[in-house]
Amino acid sequence: MTTQHPGQQAAANTAANGQFRSDPAGATHSVPMVAFQGAGKRYGPAGEGGFTAVESVDLTVGRGAITGIIGRSGAGKSTLIRMVNGLETVTSGKVLVDGVDVGALGEDGLRSLRRQIGMIFQHFNLLSSRTAFDNVALPLEIAGVDKKTIRTKVGPLLDLVGLGNKAGSYPSELSGGQKQRIGIARALATDPKLLLSDEATSALDPETTQSILELLKRINAELGLTVLLITHEMEVVKTIASHVAVIDAGRIVESGRTFDVYTHPQHDTTRTLLASALKLPQWLRSTVKPQPSAGARVLVRLVFFGDTAFKPLTGRLVAELDSDLNILAGAIEEIAGEPFGSLVVSYSAEPDVVARANRFYAETGLATEVLGYVA
Ligand SMILES: Nc1ncnc2c1ncn2[C@@H]1O[C@H](COP(=O)(O)OP(=O)(O)OP(=O)(O)O)[C@@H](O)[C@H]1O
Ligand SMILES: [Mg+2]
Repeated sequence: MTTQHPGQQAAANTAANGQFRSDPAGATHSVPMVAFQGAGKRYGPAGEGGFTAVESVDLTVGRGAITGIIGRSGAGKSTLIRMVNGLETVTSGKVLVDGVDVGALGEDGLRSLRRQIGMIFQHFNLLSSRTAFDNVALPLEIAGVDKKTIRTKVGPLLDLVGLGNKAGSYPSELSGGQKQRIGIARALATDPKLLLSDEATSALDPETTQSILELLKRINAELGLTVLLITHEMEVVKTIASHVAVIDAGRIVESGRTFDVYTHPQHDTTRTLLASALKLPQWLRSTVKPQPSAGARVLVRLVFFGDTAFKPLTGRLVAELDSDLNILAGAIEEIAGEPFGSLVVSYSAEPDVVARANRFYAETGLATEVLGYVA
């Protein structure tokens, strides 16, 4: 796949492995919530027999933001996020949380750090022998908080996640979405400043996923909690993350504002993740080829946002092409709160038609991406 950005350069996208700040406007604190500085993780011995799961990651996670890290299975996402709370040791470089070098902490320091960092998981990790109330109370018990304080703390947390009436239920009596809500309440019990989420919605159906993402968004806004989440789904990032980093084979290949990365993907991994989120009809997906054959049509995604969203460009494109245009798929969505439309069209791959199209894109600033070729 190739991308054209006629007349339009990727605005805030940083180069591969570049750093980005995701502090929301107005945040003045100078120390980022999380800073990966050339951070790496090698499992097993150095040299042969070992495996580098995360390599040379430079990334800063801004205070109060929701930042997503997206990548395929095995890309190193879980390893990377677990380096933040010391569940994995850092074997090169550094990870700083609120300015503190995680790798330099002793046992006491790590325990105190983990009280400041909540974590939620794909399979919830609730204790089946404990009620919802007692699951949420667990981190407080471990921290040595007295029973009376625990009672005043857990009730409001269950209310916050909408499960005030399930205090006495056991995990086996709860739905997946309800279990994750309990997981979230438990993660918030020690008033953390950072919430880590490892594929927290991957085991849930789309509707429940949306409700959990809404809850995370509300917690982020109401409590000012910084959220760092990892996922393999563009949909999740698009729904709640203001900033995103794309990880591939242990390296960050692209990062920036979600809107910029989504509208101007710079790396093939990002494009692949986006293409799978585009929801091309199956019949179309199965016929797309990377190279043109004789008489083939080029399949192009047109991206509308900002100014271009309000101009009648598609009609003008048909006129400019002087060749027929098929509209194959389209959607108007919202990314990190901004409207965004995409339209998948095909037209003749004849060089003169393609040249006229590219000239039109350059003149109008319409962002496009060549998805491939169809017969
Ligand atoms: N304890 C370990 N020892 C050796 N290799 C490991 C270990 N844990 C993970 N790995 C390897 O590191 C790589 C990254 O694993 P990781 O679990 O971080 O990926 P991931 O992106 O979270 O994948 P998924 O989406 O499937 O959860 C994988 O190739 C994995 O096999
Ligand atoms: Mg994982």
